[in-house]
Amino acid sequence: MAFSKALILALIFVVFAIVKPSEGALNAHYYDQSCPAAEKIILDTVRNASLYDPKVPARLLRMFFHDCFIRGCDASILLDSVVSNQAEKDGPPNISVRSFYVIEEAKKKLEKACPRTVSCADVIAIAARDVVTLSGGPYWSVLKGRKDGTVSLASESTNLPPPTFNVSQLIQSFAARGLSVKDMVTLSGGHTIGFSHCSSFEPRLQNFSKFHDIDPSMNYEFAQTLKKKCPRSTNRDKNAGTFLDSTASVFDNVYYKQILSGKGVFVSDQTLLGDSRTKKIVEKYAQDQKAFFREFAAAMVKLGNIGVKKTGQVRVHPRFIN
Ligand code: HEM
Ligand SMILES: *[C@@H]1O[C@H](CO)[C@@H](O)[C@H](O)[C@H]1NC(C)=O
Ligand SMILES: *[C@@H]1O[C@H](CO)[C@@H](O)[C@H](O)[C@H]1NC(C)=O
Ligand SMILES: *[C@@H]1O[C@H](CO)[C@@H](O)[C@H](O)[C@H]1NC(C)=O
Ligand SMILES: *[C@@H]1O[C@H](CO)[C@@H](O)[C@H](O)[C@H]1NC(C)=O
Repeated sequence: MAFSKALILALIFVVFAIVKPSEGALNAHYYDQSCPAAEKIILDTVRNASLYDPKVPARLLRMFFHDCFIRGCDASILLDSVVSNQAEKDGPPNISVRSFYVIEEAKKKLEKACPRTVSCADVIAIAARDVVTLSGGPYWSVLKGRKDGTVSLASESTNLPPPTFNVSQLIQSFAARGLSVKDMVTLSGGHTIGFSHCSSFEPRLQNFSKFHDIDPSMNYEFAQTLKKKCPRSTNRDKNAGTFLDSTASVFDNVYYKQILSGKGVFVSDQTLLGDSRTKKIVEKYAQDQKAFFREFAAAMVKLGNIGVKKTGQVRVHPRFIN
């Protein structure tokens, strides 16, 4: 008894050490008076950028996840490295969190329309919602009023869950940010759009473990297909990889259907079938897209609440502190 109490206290301490609790509630109408055109400016910018570059939607969705998981949703992911400090964006798993220019473009227009008003953190949250809706997914009202952070540390990129995490590690990583098992399974559905480089799933395809050459949780034919996309040669295209599901530009529930047939790309996707609690949710979403959409919208609002700052600065330029 005493032991489990100590454990709970220790866990609470860990949670608070990773992200401080938010300092107050966000608000759907935060810019109604101060910048009524804010959401339209962001939507127009995101839509136009997505038309020119179809990689943009997935990158902006992933950007929001990364931003919120490191230091809370405070746009720390947008800050540039300076001589004395290497920033998050230059930390280890940075292979595809680009498209920063889209947020910068939106912010430039916002500074013209309503100077020093709309935070970069809110722009990321709104853009993430817009790309989901533009890709055929749900719409939700984004809560706003976040302030921007002034600290960005490359060393903290390792706080992101890696694609090798199993279900218990994922549950723990999300719980540390106040997100439930269901939130975790639901938000993983973000992998219904986008692309992965070979390095993120390659260890599953060869020499996986002492007993299995190929990850036994992976469909065998699927593994062969992925192997062909990732030839083990020294002059392999550095952009080699695979789409995260068979309809990677459409926000739908195919991601969950693929997991049911052993075609999740990462260990962290396929492992959702390995625990009775998460398996139940995967099965539900695979057959009920409406339920997935509804719960994804709710989970994105929760993701957007992680460690938000209600006091601090609205950065004028996404890449530099004021
Ligand atoms: C559950 C833990 C998660 C892990 C371990 C994980 C891991 C990864 C990895 C390794 C990639 C591929 C990177 C690359 O090789 O280029 C990726 C891509 C992606 N992730 Fe996640 N992710 C997780 C959760 C999420 C969440 C919660 C979202 C959003 C709601 C998300 C959205 C995306 C998107 C949209 C892409 C595609 C990016 C692109 O096309 O450039 N991920 N993720
Ligand atoms: C649309 O996006 C393209 C590519 O990023 C950019 O060159 C162009 O200026 C944008 N147009 C508008 C109206 O934002
Ligand atoms: C991150 O990406 C940038 C290019 O966008 C690159 O210059 C940098 O070396 C990368 N950092 C790591 C650790 O891969
Ligand atoms: C998940 O990984 C951790 C660390 O490697 C391990 O201790 C644990 O037993 C694994 N859990 C499951 C359910 O495989
Ligand atoms: C597979 O892993 C074992 C032990 O980790 C190593 O000795 C062997 O060289 C590896 N084989 C290949 C083909 O990478």
